Amino acid sequence: MGKSKKQTNKDVSDLSEREALEELKRLAKDIARHDALYHGQDDPEISDAAYDGLLARNGAIEARFPDLILPESPSNRVGFQPLEAFEKAPHVLPMLSLGNGFDREDIADFLDRVRRFLSLDEKEVLFLVAEPKIDGLSLSLSYEDGVLVRAATRGDGQVGENVTQNVMTIESVPQTLSAAEGEALPPRLEVRGEVYMRHEDFQALNERQEGLGEKSFANPRNAAAGSLRQLDSRITAGRPLTFFAYSVADPEGLPTTSHYETLQLLARLGFEINPLTKLCQSLDELMAVYEQIGLERSKLGYDIDGVVYKVDDFSLQKRLGFVSRAPRWALAHKFPAEQAVTQLEAIDIQVGRTGALTPVAKLTPVTVGGVVVSNASLHNEDEIARKDVRVGDFVRVQRAGDVIPQVVEVVLDKRPSFAKAFVYPDLCPACGSPAVRGQDEKGKEDAVRRCTGGFVCPAQAVERLKHFVSRQAFDIEGLGRKQVESFYHEGRVMAPADIFTLEARDAKSLKRLKNAEGWGETSASNLWTAIEARRTIDFGRFIFALGIRHIGERTGQDLARHYGSADVWVERMIAAGASADEGDDEALSEAFLELEAIDGIGAVMAESLVDFFQGEENLKQVRALLDEVTVEPLEFETVASDVSGKTIVFTGKLELMSRSEAKAQAERLGAKVVGSVSKKTDMVVAGPGAGSKLKKAEELGVEVLSEQDWVALVKT
Ligand code: IVH
Repeated sequence: MGKSKKQTNKDVSDLSEREALEELKRLAKDIARHDALYHGQDDPEISDAAYDGLLARNGAIEARFPDLILPESPSNRVGFQPLEAFEKAPHVLPMLSLGNGFDREDIADFLDRVRRFLSLDEKEVLFLVAEPKIDGLSLSLSYEDGVLVRAATRGDGQVGENVTQNVMTIESVPQTLSAAEGEALPPRLEVRGEVYMRHEDFQALNERQEGLGEKSFANPRNAAAGSLRQLDSRITAGRPLTFFAYSVADPEGLPTTSHYETLQLLARLGFEINPLTKLCQSLDELMAVYEQIGLERSKLGYDIDGVVYKVDDFSLQKRLGFVSRAPRWALAHKFPAEQAVTQLEAIDIQVGRTGALTPVAKLTPVTVGGVVVSNASLHNEDEIARKDVRVGDFVRVQRAGDVIPQVVEVVLDKRPSFAKAFVYPDLCPACGSPAVRGQDEKGKEDAVRRCTGGFVCPAQAVERLKHFVSRQAFDIEGLGRKQVESFYHEGRVMAPADIFTLEARDAKSLKRLKNAEGWGETSASNLWTAIEARRTIDFGRFIFALGIRHIGERTGQDLARHYGSADVWVERMIAAGASADEGDDEALSEAFLELEAIDGIGAVMAESLVDFFQGEENLKQVRALLDEVTVEPLEFETVASDVSGKTIVFTGKLELMSRSEAKAQAERLGAKVVGSVSKKTDMVVAGPGAGSKLKKAEELGVEVLSEQDWVALVKT
């Protein structure tokens, strides 16, 4: 194993600081060499397991001696290699990392080093910019004549992944730059910055994922990375990503001479730059900004993990240059992690709307970064096993801003003798039905265990009702999660339709709501008004509100657009299930094939819809609800245009937009979109792979447009 032979096998907790530093240096070198052998030469010298062992050892030492993490540490590198499926994007100038400092002394040393290197005398002022260190992932954006031509992730710093398509969907990344008056656009510009996800967006995304029965993300950084590195950019488009610009790759050719001025220039060109950025001229000023940003940290709404100090003047930056992978002219002053150790008193199992069992750690309350924490996420069954979390253990919890705290690890040295392994239930704690782990489409065991109780499970029923009244669904003001819970337990509201018969039943009841705890005449009457206001609902929302697994807001809209009315939809869903059930692929009903062919509906969604409507109780509830509410078809504000009143057929593959988007666009412009070509068709928009419809159009002499023609036409 070459040089790694020297590696000590001492327990990490027995290492002295000096030994740890030595070993970290050795590991960094060894790991880098193995990376090069593996990735560069396809000729690994050690097994994957041995390599993982080196990484794990490095991680363990760093966890115990966080102050010793080296700039060249393998854990400082964001992923070693681009994903196979993304095109490689070599960086003209490498994307570097930053050296770290942790206290005033480290910052003073940094300033001394810089001043000494530049031979500045004491009286000479050294300007530095202090700005938040955003906890996301770095991105490099190349513009040519003001047009975004490439976006690349950092990768290993030399070669990243080409994620241009995905980045085009991020609103705060300008696709074209506009110069301010009297300023010229730089012909070439490479802007670097951080992609991140705001806390509220992260939480909404996770709720959505959980609601759809899909994997939730552990933190905003993972969510941002997972969203950016989607092979399907339509998925990225649905993810709320944000971008702050923090530098240019090469200031050569720019009219500016300093970092601070350049940030202002970037702002004028259309980039968001961080508003907490400050120009400083002394150690005291840097420390004051650090303290101030630290105070504001928990209110920012996004994660930051420190403050970056950068020498302002470009000519000085150039003189200072780089050491290994980090610039000599910058330093990251890290915040201490918002962590604390506390005891795990119990593990609670919560049951979600789709029956998913989620473990929650019940903790002895502890203050983490200024907030008292008594619950923390344990993610899922496998995570408990992997971290070997036992009830009674002392655990390290971590909070990232507003986000639900996480259990990071068990503090093994503190494990009490009575700590008891947790037996994950295989019966639903709410209804006693079996809770099972299914398989995904690829036959892999699902990480989530689910209650099979369906309608007999009160926990699922309550969660479904909560979803039903939530903001994106029926949005009934005054009927929040708490009220839904108590109405359910009092037997007032057991299913969605009951909400709309509540007032009439209440009027006849001896137990009138206005006499119940927390309710008066006014609040009860306000609730009736709020419920009445939602008796009419748009079709897309109606579908989403039913809480069918895998059917999110967007899919609700897609289905609504396709089926037009709720009655038609329900009948088609029943029909889709009828013969799909025979298990004979050939016999799949026409309704099922129609469902699967809708743009944006995949096999998993189609199955889920069919399953839902095959459930008798589901159908009963939907029908009862339809008796109470009026579902409005999706409304379009039509705009007069060249295609108003025309009948259009889209065929073949559309590459610039989805079929449903094209259809919606046409309908908004007053056109009618139909599925087959006839003499009455005015126009056929044909993408690659168009077959019989295109042929028929040509035979009938119907006007045929390419997708590009269509886009040009609707733009006018
Ligand atoms: S400057 C050569 N400024 O931190 C200078 N980086 O640990 C390189 N980061 O990969 C970066 N906020 O992803 C800079 N205001 C900021 C930053 C920042 C976050 C990230 C960046 C980089 C990592 C280095």
